[in-house]
Amino acid sequence: MKPQRKVFVVGGHLTPFIGKGHPDFIWKKHPEFGQRENPTLEELMTSAILGALESTGVEAAAIERGYVGNFAGELFSNQGHMGALAVRAHKDLQGKPFMRLEGACASGGLAVVTAVDAIQAGCDVVMALGAEVQTTVSARDGAGFLARASHWESERELDDFTFPAMFARRAKYYEEKFGVGEEDIAYVVAKAYANANKNPNAHMRDVKVDLEAASQASDTNPRFLRNEDFKDYLKVTDCSQVSDGAAAMILASEEGLKKLGIDPSKCVELLGYTVATSPLGQVSDYTTLDNTKKAANELYTETGLKPEQIGVCEVHDCFAVTEVLMTEALGFAEPGKGGELAKSGATAIDGKIPVNTGGGLIAFGHPVGATGIKQVLEIYRQMKGLCGDYQVPTKPEYGLTANMGGDDRTTVCMAFKNV
Ligand code: ACO
Repeated sequence: MKPQRKVFVVGGHLTPFIGKGHPDFIWKKHPEFGQRENPTLEELMTSAILGALESTGVEAAAIERGYVGNFAGELFSNQGHMGALAVRAHKDLQGKPFMRLEGACASGGLAVVTAVDAIQAGCDVVMALGAEVQTTVSARDGAGFLARASHWESERELDDFTFPAMFARRAKYYEEKFGVGEEDIAYVVAKAYANANKNPNAHMRDVKVDLEAASQASDTNPRFLRNEDFKDYLKVTDCSQVSDGAAAMILASEEGLKKLGIDPSKCVELLGYTVATSPLGQVSDYTTLDNTKKAANELYTETGLKPEQIGVCEVHDCFAVTEVLMTEALGFAEPGKGGELAKSGATAIDGKIPVNTGGGLIAFGHPVGATGIKQVLEIYRQMKGLCGDYQVPTKPEYGLTANMGGDDRTTVCMAFKNV
């Protein structure tokens, strides 16, 4: 869709994404274990909401609606009813329409597009936020919770780690079809960690993984799947993180900006947004992201943008092979050449098309419901020069996000213009 009423990203706030490997994450070997707890879902959500209000200078009373991305609060935190949980953050939000959107790992993206739809319907100032806590159980049990985003009946039994196995399957068929090896895909991983090491909010900000470490299995980088067909195609470093975190942003119409007294030059403009949904359990070609390609092609058609115009991009790298496939689905590389694109340096912070500048899901982290919101905020922050040590050198004119749920079953793509 191309918005009929203009929509601007006013700004927002991200909590740090934390989990195993992050120095502030409390676990049994942490010096403060037993004295301090990790933040709860509500605490993360509150901190993102209040941070977004403070950093934009928008009063809570000015927010007309709120949309919350969250995938599995009931399973990880025994908590549902996210809209009513969110408005506990501020008394002036109470009584307003706040509600949840769920589309697995694309829940955050769906919250943004629903906020945009609300502006098309007449609202002027809307909040979109997302939050997830995933560290309340072991990675293995958590993988069972995340497997609710697959077609449970036919796909759950692939492996205890269902999603890692589904993307190991993609890596296998991709590598076989195009004659590439895991070392070709590892460039994506080395880039992700190098970027995250410059990003104070990143889950893996202090963890080093270079190309050599990412290219081969080792005691510290095991192949951990039990599925015999796919286990050779995935190592721990190929995976996104099990992270806790939240993100909140404020969107406004032109009238909304006037009411708030905010100049459009402080914002970025949404040029277009598309959502594509495909049936669970029915992937016809594991070597392409067909659903994402559909969403991206529609976006390019509706906005008139071309891949070569995009100056900064956030893609859903839930696994290393996914970033490779994403860059192909978005038209930055030919089929089979996504690994080469990363190897060439084109997707690095100072490359021709910087991708996942803050470390992506692999190293910035992946608190599922927050990811789609974080992607949009990262484009905003790059366009407004707010990314500190990982700032792209040239001010991007156009930016793009691709947020994916499940095995390419729900994709939200958005295009932005710097104002
Ligand atoms: N050799 C062999 N196997 C090992 C070794 C080793 N040296 N070390 C660990 N393992 C195996 C173990 O079986 C272990 O499971 P267990 O402890 O239950 O037996 C398993 O690997 C995982 O080890 P953990 O130490 O629990 O792993 P960690 O907490 O570091 O998590 C992991 C790593 C599993 C890769 C995790 O980060 C993960 O699941 N990431 C993916 C998250 C995900 O799927 N998100 C959704 C994406 S889908 C989307 O976005 C569309």
